[in-house]
Amino acid sequence: MANDVSPMRKPVIVGNWKLYKTQQEAREFFAAFKPLVTAAKHCEIVVAPPFTAIAVCVEVVRGSSIGIAAQDVYWANEGAFTGEVSPRMLIEAGCRAVIIAHSERRQFFGETDESANRKVKAALAVGLTPILCVGETLGEREAGSTKKILERQFRGSLAALTPAEFSRIIMAYEPVWAIGTGRTATPEVAAEAHKFLRDLAAGTFTAEYAACLRILYGGSVKPENIKGLMAQAEIDGALVGGASLDPEHFAAIVNY
Ligand code: PGA
Repeated sequence: MANDVSPMRKPVIVGNWKLYKTQQEAREFFAAFKPLVTAAKHCEIVVAPPFTAIAVCVEVVRGSSIGIAAQDVYWANEGAFTGEVSPRMLIEAGCRAVIIAHSERRQFFGETDESANRKVKAALAVGLTPILCVGETLGEREAGSTKKILERQFRGSLAALTPAEFSRIIMAYEPVWAIGTGRTATPEVAAEAHKFLRDLAAGTFTAEYAACLRILYGGSVKPENIKGLMAQAEIDGALVGGASLDPEHFAAIVNY
């Protein structure tokens, strides 16, 4: 079945480069990638390089529709917070969006729903689009607690958001067991989690806001599985790690 793309839910394909690519490598990537996606009008394209390559990426995508995002942000705009980067700095550098609470941040760097919530609010306050990640671990799925975990992450990370603020976020469902493992969730399993998240959005805000929320799937997305994922009406795009590092693979995903 073709994707029931509501005009209000334009698909978004986000590449998360994680701790890969120097400035030079970023230039080489876009030199190869840009010509492969010039005709792509069906979706928004966003790339999240490491902080040090953001300015170079913004420069080389200028004039195209490709947006640049950061992989994390701190919630204060300035202060004695060694090592952090602020929302205002990301805006100045040319970012449109920022990934928040990626599972690797949760797993290795102490990200919590509470810190994610502060980051979401701080990003929104300067006009950055938060791409908020949620997702259960393998143990949590096997224990049957997927919905409980998703609900806790949803409520904690989005606490005290106004409906207008909520309407500006993008959500990414990233089951931790599928990230970098080659083990993709089946389109049906992903769609079930997306539906659950959308129902939560409807209950917390309104059905109209929920209907406009874009929920991306992330976890071992590849050129070979993107079509099946995007055929699900509940799946509004993808957050792509490993396969976004190669210009041809990422372009094949964009051009699904
Ligand atoms: P992967 O990573 O595509 O390499 O599994 C996805 C992510 O972590 O966003």
